Amino acid sequence: MDVDAARGRALVEESREAVVVLDAFDRVVLASRRARQSVEDLQEGEPLPPDLLTGERGVIPLVVPYEADGHRERLVYLSRQGDLAAYEELRSGFTAAVSHELRTPLARLLTLLETATLPGEDVVELVERAAAEVDLITELIDEVLFLSELESGARVVALGAEPVRPVLEDTLEELQERAVRAGVELRLECDPAVELTIRPRMLRVVAQNLAENAIRYAGPGSTFTLTVETDPDGSVLLSASDDGIGVDQAELGRLFERFFRADRARASRGTGLGLAIVKHVVTQAGGTLEAAGGRGRGLEIRCRFPPR
Ligand SMILES: Nc1ncnc2c1ncn2[C@@H]1O[C@H](COP(=O)(O)OP(=O)(O)O)[C@@H](O)[C@H]1O
Ligand SMILES: [Mg+2]
Repeated sequence: MDVDAARGRALVEESREAVVVLDAFDRVVLASRRARQSVEDLQEGEPLPPDLLTGERGVIPLVVPYEADGHRERLVYLSRQGDLAAYEELRSGFTAAVSHELRTPLARLLTLLETATLPGEDVVELVERAAAEVDLITELIDEVLFLSELESGARVVALGAEPVRPVLEDTLEELQERAVRAGVELRLECDPAVELTIRPRMLRVVAQNLAENAIRYAGPGSTFTLTVETDPDGSVLLSASDDGIGVDQAELGRLFERFFRADRARASRGTGLGLAIVKHVVTQAGGTLEAAGGRGRGLEIRCRFPPR
């Protein structure tokens, strides 16, 4: 097989869509893994079941004809009704939401800059506030890029077991200065022997988001504790808890939604994407999460990873 053919084969095989390549006689030349999984009677070398092309099985075929080396072939996407449409909708909804979220800090930035040109204004203070808006915009863009990296299949799972403690130690160390300024104490309780098959960079993202939240929201005088325990069944529980102001119990279930921010009136800056990212990483590593706590009773985010 030449390079192009091998590349084409790999592209189809690994496609996230249910997609097949048909020859001029409607025989299946190639099928993606997804297609083989979702269509029972699909076989390479055999004709494509005709009712798949007529939409009778609730499949909406999208046909792309092309010619390769003088052979006429067709690429057929066998999406279920709603599959692609729902995905597209999610994507365009997300794009709209991102644009909307960007508009707010940009508008504030513009106002600050305009004010700075007026006589008698405290330019230094205005510039500092403008810089904070730029920081927020940068954070939003970084998080959106990271999420899209995750969605396009960035590896979360490590090839082998990775020690957990050094990553968590580093992460908290880096945040120490900010924590002191916010009056929040950071603690780590983790046996050095604990390992997880999750890439250190990804574990760092999880720990960083959870600790940063406590620094931002828990309030001065509170303590944030990152605890890692191994259960008798071998599953690993990573818990991030603080004894700060918490969120309303009714809001606990929504914390992992994109752009969700509890109590917007609170004078704080953030994107609402941090916990969505945490959820993405933890579930992609095979884990589950839950949030517990209540208003005035702190917040605890528990992530459980199954035994290896
Ligand atoms: N430790 C915490 N204590 C109180 N509220 C929190 C805590 N962590 C998260 N929250 C609430 O959950 C919301 C979502 O958090 P997150 O997804 O990290 O977004 P962001 O921090 O950018 O606002 C925050 O806006 C805040 O209202
Ligand atoms: Mg956050």
